[in-house]
Amino acid sequence: MKGIILAGGRGTRLHPLTVSVSKQLLPVHDKPMVYYPLSVLMLAGIRDILIISDPRDLGAFSSLLGDGRQLGITLSYAPQKEPAGIAEALLIGADHIGSDDVALILGDNIFHGPGFGEVLQGHVAGIDGCVLFGYRVPDPERYGVAEVDEQGRILSLEEKPEKPRSNLAVTGLYLYDNEVVEIARTIRPSARGELEITDVNRIYVERRAAVQVDLGRGFTWLDTGTHDSLTDAGHYMQLMEQRQGIRVACIEEVAMNMGYIDAAACYLLGEQIAKSDYGQYVMGVAASAPRVFAGT
Ligand code: G1P
Repeated sequence: MKGIILAGGRGTRLHPLTVSVSKQLLPVHDKPMVYYPLSVLMLAGIRDILIISDPRDLGAFSSLLGDGRQLGITLSYAPQKEPAGIAEALLIGADHIGSDDVALILGDNIFHGPGFGEVLQGHVAGIDGCVLFGYRVPDPERYGVAEVDEQGRILSLEEKPEKPRSNLAVTGLYLYDNEVVEIARTIRPSARGELEITDVNRIYVERRAAVQVDLGRGFTWLDTGTHDSLTDAGHYMQLMEQRQGIRVACIEEVAMNMGYIDAAACYLLGEQIAKSDYGQYVMGVAASAPRVFAGT
């Protein structure tokens, strides 16, 4: 399966923070926002990932992450010239997807929960149609909203409904079979002038090929769309670190734990940024990994 991170948009609700910097490069506590969705794809076992952003910001993303080799993955970059909708990422990424399945994730969505990697790997392996991930929210009218049957099959989908049929928001992580490229080619811009991902997903719903996985209690899905929610997300990550001693979305640690790089390589990545406590953490997890100094 291929991966796509859509890190586009103008971030207008975060101005002036995002006047000259991509929203998805803003800090969420100790790391740039894009680390969070990148780590989700890596945990799903996806190693060939396209990052799509405003042309202005592509250079900044590639100077941050390079070609991914240091993490044992492959990263490539493509521009989205105008913020013309989430579904456009599937058209921009059509060559990258090729004949494969694809996971699309929004660059500003933050997921954190126990065993998420295993859950994702299970769905990635058996994909037939599309898999969405739902999260219970108090304000579903701000999101895509799904109505599902007891098996999780989606019966209806609405984008920002005035009267939501459930409180299950559709989060910004979408798994698709290869049909999605053809489907994305058939949809037309909505009233707000965007190619809506909900319109793509609705075609799978009509085919009875869309399921939604409820992320459930104990899981955290964070929004970063406003100044308050961005600050809250940073505080959440700070709390995780201070109370649990873990750093969420530490891509070097994920790469090591997934076996993409060995512990010695992980240690070196930490050493390059050793003046920061993030760098010290990377060195620490690498040094305590079972095989680091065993010469393997
Ligand atoms: C988009 C999708 C929406 C989804 C949300 C998740 O909304 O259109 O269905 O629930 O992302 O973050 P937007 O961010 O474009 O308002």
